[in-house]
Amino acid sequence: MRVGVLTGGGDCPGLNAVIRAIVRTGTFDHECEFVGFRDGWRGPLDADTQPLDVSAVRGILPRGGTVLGSSRTNPLSDQATLEGKTGMERIKENLAVFGVDALIAIGGEDTLGVAGTLYEHGVNVVGVPKTIDNDLGATDYTFGFDTAVNIAMEAIDRLHTTAESHHRALIVEVMGRNAGWIALHAGLAGGANVILIPEHPFDIEEVCDYVQQRFQTRYAPIVVVAEGAHPKTLSTSVVDSKLDAFGHTRYGGVGQLLAEEIERRTGKEARAAVLGHIQRGGTPTAFDRVLATRFGIHAIRAVADGAFGMMVALRGTEIVRVPIGDATRELKLVPPERYAEAEVFFG
Ligand code: F6P
Repeated sequence: MRVGVLTGGGDCPGLNAVIRAIVRTGTFDHECEFVGFRDGWRGPLDADTQPLDVSAVRGILPRGGTVLGSSRTNPLSDQATLEGKTGMERIKENLAVFGVDALIAIGGEDTLGVAGTLYEHGVNVVGVPKTIDNDLGATDYTFGFDTAVNIAMEAIDRLHTTAESHHRALIVEVMGRNAGWIALHAGLAGGANVILIPEHPFDIEEVCDYVQQRFQTRYAPIVVVAEGAHPKTLSTSVVDSKLDAFGHTRYGGVGQLLAEEIERRTGKEARAAVLGHIQRGGTPTAFDRVLATRFGIHAIRAVADGAFGMMVALRGTEIVRVPIGDATRELKLVPPERYAEAEVFFG
């Protein structure tokens, strides 16, 4: 069997571990051959491939990013139509040209959304969920999240010492446009003064009270804010108005806004640090390497079993198969009771 593999959407640590596990398991256990498609859905759209065999995946386990490249190309958009052929038609044609019997799509809600639609139109697809945001339904965890949380936690630990030396409030902006999982976990692990997430609009007065309270101690206030968090008075904190190919807003800037507002209201110096793509780069943690490897093994097994239209998912400690649509139907947001657990540490 000839299997195509692609990685789409924002990259995350662990993608290479999945690719390696797919190729090794497929080659040794299921007599598969592989075609690597470059840059997410752009690869099958433009017939852009690269060799993918056991020698090509040696040494990539600890490497961040993706050896296949990634993009946010949306093959179902009007822009994907070329010379009278829709994106869907172009992909089907190119899969046939390369003799691809099945495709493994590794991605988040957008990539898996496309995979689900292709499956409905007759393409043999298996999905692997990934995102540092950990906001996909149907799986308890996505790989990449643990690495991002550890990077953010280490940043918070470092910011504590410099904030205390200078008696400043430091605001740490982390990723998470709809879901505040990274902020919640990194903030809890790093002992944040207050954690602000998109699911729970904040009251700036209350945030300033927490900051003032922390200044009464010998510890400095570290405010952890998810990029999509916003005050109760606004419906969004969007500062950058650009949209990506799937129509998502790009966030960024809430940390700076908070710093200015905290400084104005408390009279104490407040500065912002935006972690941005640092959270997505570099080597994956052991947890993410193991989860990604297990996803890869189970994804190629699903292909070998002909379980198309399915996605691998983590339930407890087991890897299970669920319909791809389950991952994209609803985002997994931070429930109020999980946020309430953190509130006892605020102030
Ligand atoms: O979905 C993963 C993610 O890292 C989000 O947390 C973030 O908002 C977005 O991707 C950033 O995307 P890009 O790298 O395309 O700017």
